[in-house]
Amino acid sequence: MKTVATVAALRAAISGYRAAGETVGFVPTMGALHAGHLTLVRAAKRECTRAVASIFVNPKQFGPNEDLARYPRDLEGDSKKLQEAGCDLLFAPTPDEMYPEGFSTTIHVAGVSEGMEGARRPGHFDGVATVVARLFALVGPDLAVFGAKDAQQAAVVKRLVTDIGFPLRLLVHDTVREPDGLALSSRNQYLTPEERAVAPGLFRALLAGHLVHELGEKDAATILRAVRKGLEAVPAFRVDALDLVDAESMQPVTTIDRPVLLAVAAFLGKTRLIDNIRFGPARRA
Ligand code: PAF
Repeated sequence: MKTVATVAALRAAISGYRAAGETVGFVPTMGALHAGHLTLVRAAKRECTRAVASIFVNPKQFGPNEDLARYPRDLEGDSKKLQEAGCDLLFAPTPDEMYPEGFSTTIHVAGVSEGMEGARRPGHFDGVATVVARLFALVGPDLAVFGAKDAQQAAVVKRLVTDIGFPLRLLVHDTVREPDGLALSSRNQYLTPEERAVAPGLFRALLAGHLVHELGEKDAATILRAVRKGLEAVPAFRVDALDLVDAESMQPVTTIDRPVLLAVAAFLGKTRLIDNIRFGPARRA
């Protein structure tokens, strides 16, 4: 695997692939890679002849009270993992390379970025949309792969790709889970053994909501009550957010009459875990 830190070196490597008629699958990350990220890299490599990943802890998507400095960084360890997963090229720029002096553009994806996490973390999705647009412009991939665990981020990127007309296919890969159902996350490493033991209760509570719907319930409030009950079964959870929204627009729904996203964020001790599932009837044409 080749690692580049500058835009010029990235462009040269991509031009080489293009000259050889190769296709490029791209996985943007902020590092601290786990098996979920590597699944995305393998998916990119399956679908394209070259897999390209980026590692960049993007300051623009951190709020003033969110600790950017403490975000885990392990370029050496991440590089090894990417290499093993079949990644061909890693772009690991500095903040100055990504946002040179005078950089003044912010991308705001209205609507879909404004509720849920967007309301709780003002500016977060502007930072995500801005860096993702810049990365897409620099890498010029045929395919970009994102994880479904960050469902609102995937919806924001989908809207961005459609609106700007980036000539790429977006693949949103299913959440990768531990055998007991816990969604893989860099944050799982912070859980104590006791917290880790009860953490799968987050997914189980979502499944309880889904089951209530499968049994015929269409009322969102009733489904949310079932999820809350499931969450209360684990006293250690401190629920931060629970949303039942249209899977595309991310706007709250009252009735399950289309594809919906049921999303939860909860603290276990100091660790904030997120998870979601999708269900509901297909959208009518
Ligand atoms: O999901 C992430 O790791 C980041 O939000 C992304 C997409 C790499 C943008 O910085």
